[in-house]
Amino acid sequence: MASFMAKGVLVKSSKEPRLWSPLVHAVRGQSTEPPAKTKFGPLKDEDRIFTNLYGRHDWKLKGALSRGDYYKTKEIILKGKDWILNEIKASGLRGRGGAGFPTGMKWGFMNKPDDGRPKYLVVNADEGEPGTCKDREIMRHDPHKLVEGCLVAGAAMGARAAYIYIRGEFYNEASNMQIAINEAYQAGLIGRNACGSGYDFDIYMHRGAGAYICGEETALIESLEGKQGKPRLKPPFPADVGVFGCPTTVSNVETVAVAPTICRRGGSWFAGFGRVRNSGTKLFNISGCVNNPVTVEEEMSIPLRELIERHAGGVIGGWNNLQGIIPGGSSTPLIPKSVCDDVMMDFDALVAAQTGLGTAAIIVIDNSRDIIQAIARLSDFYKHESCGQCTPCREGCNWMQKMMHRFVEGNARVEEIDLLYEMSKQIEGHTICALADGAAWPVQGLIRHYRPVMEARIKAYEEKHGADKQKKAASAY
Ligand SMILES: Cc1cc2nc3c(=O)[nH]c(=O)nc-3n(C[C@H](O)[C@H](O)[C@H](O)COP(=O)(O)O)c2cc1C
Ligand code: SF4
Repeated sequence: MASFMAKGVLVKSSKEPRLWSPLVHAVRGQSTEPPAKTKFGPLKDEDRIFTNLYGRHDWKLKGALSRGDYYKTKEIILKGKDWILNEIKASGLRGRGGAGFPTGMKWGFMNKPDDGRPKYLVVNADEGEPGTCKDREIMRHDPHKLVEGCLVAGAAMGARAAYIYIRGEFYNEASNMQIAINEAYQAGLIGRNACGSGYDFDIYMHRGAGAYICGEETALIESLEGKQGKPRLKPPFPADVGVFGCPTTVSNVETVAVAPTICRRGGSWFAGFGRVRNSGTKLFNISGCVNNPVTVEEEMSIPLRELIERHAGGVIGGWNNLQGIIPGGSSTPLIPKSVCDDVMMDFDALVAAQTGLGTAAIIVIDNSRDIIQAIARLSDFYKHESCGQCTPCREGCNWMQKMMHRFVEGNARVEEIDLLYEMSKQIEGHTICALADGAAWPVQGLIRHYRPVMEARIKAYEEKHGADKQKKAASAY
């Protein structure tokens, strides 16, 4: 432990370095002190949580035990829910499912006076966001990290059981998870008197049918109950009325899987990585126009360019061939090369750049690609995946998709760029769930940064077909 503390846990706020305590972290949000660190990444091997990410070692129980999983799990449970919650809060962990809500606070919502109803942890393993492929690596190569994570997170909320809701396409992952769960039952690590702690805790796998909307937490709950996966209006929130009418917390696979390591190594250890309020290590997926697409665990706040060049072999054709990047899965707005040059990969830095960390799925688009076509393809996806309950989403996604395909051709009027932007603004924030925001934001990112490309496409279309023909075609919508 000492070596971990020496690594990233020292704060230089005065001449003398001092230890980074949970209390310091808790009040840091209101502090005007300079940031503790200015350099982020590369992560050292000894600081990796997911040590079998690439499946090079045994993923079953024997291999997991040899990597340190289930070490002192009983002691962690016996320390009690307040202790676990405090470590998670001290770690600064924010949900890895996309929204980045503080996990310690969210899990703490479950600790209300007992009203006789059982409580449930639901693990969101739907992983439907295009570009995102991190949770599947955990489930197929390190499934015991998630099994132990369920136990620790369950103990923090006093949950009776966990349901792992996994998308139907993940056949191999569901199979490995089930084997890991069976092994854990046989070894007495879960089930009655889990790990000999006196705590009874079950884990169930539930396979979905692969709808993107079932990743939204209330749609997921509906689907788990056997109904159509359509989001619920909130309130009531799942912590009050969740699955089967009982208090429930829905958490992402990665969020849950890191909890045991945080408890073992200390919340302060995790908080020593990344910038304040953006702490920890993180799985990043890098895909698209890179030489070596990869999923890698890195320190939060690592510069985007360094992340791509160090781990993904760089942009095809070199950094100067970069056109733009979707930094956090398909729902997050595009950023152009000028922003990518310096931006850090964390929640706050990406919000400041008018985008988001989302699921940390980085989609790289080089100059050989048609950027309008790329976003139009995403509009196809959102139109297809809208559940249809809300008019702005149902009609808006359809309309945006049609317009986007006209912009791909250039068969539009320049004024329609503003119309499209205005329409996306009418969709955003006016619906039951955030799918509609996710449909609107990529379009907004395109217009914000690539308007000249859209205008040039319209001009080229006019030159080829004549302005009149273009106007006639455009007025059809
Ligand atoms: C349309 C839609 C799809 C989503 N898909 C996922 C998903 O596949 N996996 C996930 O963990 N969260 C997904 N989310 C976010 C969940 O609603 C929820 O915020 C998350 O599971 C909470 O976990 P966390 O606190 O660990 O981040 C989705 C949200 C929306 C609106
Ligand atoms: S925003 Fe779209 S996906 Fe979400 S509930 Fe409304 S119609 Fe369904």
